[in-house]
Amino acid sequence: MTQSNVLGSALVTGASSGIGAVYADRLAARGHALILAARDEARLNTLAAKLRAEHGVTVEVIRADLTAAADVAALEAKIAADPNISLVVNNAGAALMGAFLDNSPEKIDELIRLNVTSVARLTHAAAKAFVPRGRGTIVNISSVVGIAHEYGASVYGATKAFVTYLTQAVAHETAGTGVKLQAVLPGATRTEIWERSGRKVEDLDPDRTMDVDELVDAALAGLDKGELITIPSLPDPADWAGYQAARAVLLPNISKAHPAERYGVRKLVEA
Ligand SMILES: NC(=O)c1ccc[n+]([C@@H]2O[C@H](COP(=O)([O-])OP(=O)(O)OC[C@H]3O[C@@H](n4cnc5c(N)ncnc54)[C@H](OP(=O)(O)O)[C@@H]3O)[C@@H](O)[C@H]2O)c1
Repeated sequence: MTQSNVLGSALVTGASSGIGAVYADRLAARGHALILAARDEARLNTLAAKLRAEHGVTVEVIRADLTAAADVAALEAKIAADPNISLVVNNAGAALMGAFLDNSPEKIDELIRLNVTSVARLTHAAAKAFVPRGRGTIVNISSVVGIAHEYGASVYGATKAFVTYLTQAVAHETAGTGVKLQAVLPGATRTEIWERSGRKVEDLDPDRTMDVDELVDAALAGLDKGELITIPSLPDPADWAGYQAARAVLLPNISKAHPAERYGVRKLVEA
């Protein structure tokens, strides 16, 4: 049995550049067979040829525009039909810069279809396939912007808040099934996403911007450690645990029969 039969195939969306292309390289080096999806088929084919030559793995290329429902459905069908797929990396994504009031309705809609709808549907397809098998891994590439509304990327940040929440919620729901989930929350990382959304990567603070290789290597180390949430630059994971603990304090009081007394509208309880 070859290494790729043992590990299964990894489906990586947005593998034509940046974070996705490095995931493809690292997963091939680990011995995974690959299924690479993105819009730029020529670029995917070039990467596929390189990875086949360097790592001796099988690489399939699928042209997919993940803002298009039919292309998302084709990937859902692939995940459902191919029992060899053991890992899905939902990485494809884009950013939308500028003030919320300056964003066009069309751009907002397109971003949500890519960053939210496709991730929800492919996470769903993977979970439906993996849970009955009692194994499988889903990695969703989110962003620290999803926990930092102060950073001024309203719709982009909201899409990433969705990705982190979805990953946490599905991990909670599927706990004990053997299926593993991870949300990766990169900070600024040197990839094409900046140019594609109208910003120069050279204009970023170099002390706060990570190289893509280090980012992916840390994310995979986090996966190997069994982390549900990986923030590659965060020195102390206790800080994330503290954030969760503060949230947990709210939980007993966020759904009750009556408003809190401070609103002055509480019905008088009969003696
Ligand atoms: N770089 C950062 O600073 C940073 C920080 C936090 C999170 N992230 C997240 O990391 C992920 C990867 O981004 P990146 O930084 O590596 O940027 P990137 O180099 O621009 O890569 C984006 C990838 O997504 C694909 N893609 C874009 N639109 C698509 C569409 N409509 N359908 C299918 N694929 C599409 C692109 O391929 P095609 O053009 O060939 O379709 C490309 O492979 C994204 O989810 C992003 O939000 C990045």
